Amino acid sequence: MKFFIDTANVDEIKEINDWGILDGVTTNPSLIAKSGRVFEDVVEEIAKIVDGAISAEVTAEDADTMVDQAHELIKLGENIVIKIPMTDEGLKAVKVLSKEGIKTNVTLIFSVNQAILAAKAGATYVSPFVGRLDDIGEDGMNLIRDLSYIFDRYDIQTEIIAASIRHTAHVRECMLAGAHIATVPYKVFKGMLNHPLTNSGIATFLEDFKSVSTKGEF
Ligand code: E4P
Repeated sequence: MKFFIDTANVDEIKEINDWGILDGVTTNPSLIAKSGRVFEDVVEEIAKIVDGAISAEVTAEDADTMVDQAHELIKLGENIVIKIPMTDEGLKAVKVLSKEGIKTNVTLIFSVNQAILAAKAGATYVSPFVGRLDDIGEDGMNLIRDLSYIFDRYDIQTEIIAASIRHTAHVRECMLAGAHIATVPYKVFKGMLNHPLTNSGIATFLEDFKSVSTKGEF
């Protein structure tokens, strides 16, 4: 199981990267807009911070321009993965890029059929959006479960990134459902870290230790 962080905020990325648990970063045009920074600058900086896959999304809608944008994006770091929306033009671009050895992450996946098409086209990763399916009354985790079963059954090498993760239970559930990767927002990472029994346990240990004599600084 790998963890990516789903943000374009460099401070958030640095903080979680320092925990030693990050395997990559996913961004999207909305997250880049929220960062308030120049697209290429922020992607290049992120690619230097994290030693892992950094997804940067194309904004073109036709395959040729997507491929051109991908060629520009990979100049920003050796670890750049090209995020491509799940469309017919997107599939065509994935095919071209995969033949060139460029890694792709097909995004906005909401069905098994979409994920299979992306995998067949040569996607390195597919990103099924769990939270957005939950938002419309579907069970996003079922999609992860189905994909995990099918990818295993047919020995498909494409990795499943559980995306649109909204809370800590989603992380636990997508691990149980067989996702290879969860891309987790900053505040969900913070939620994963904390437990009230840990905090009260630390407080008790420190209080009790005050009566202990030591030979040095503890
Ligand atoms: C994934 O790569 C996307 O950036 C992301 O998970 C979307 O999540 P949202 O539905 O919370 O916007």
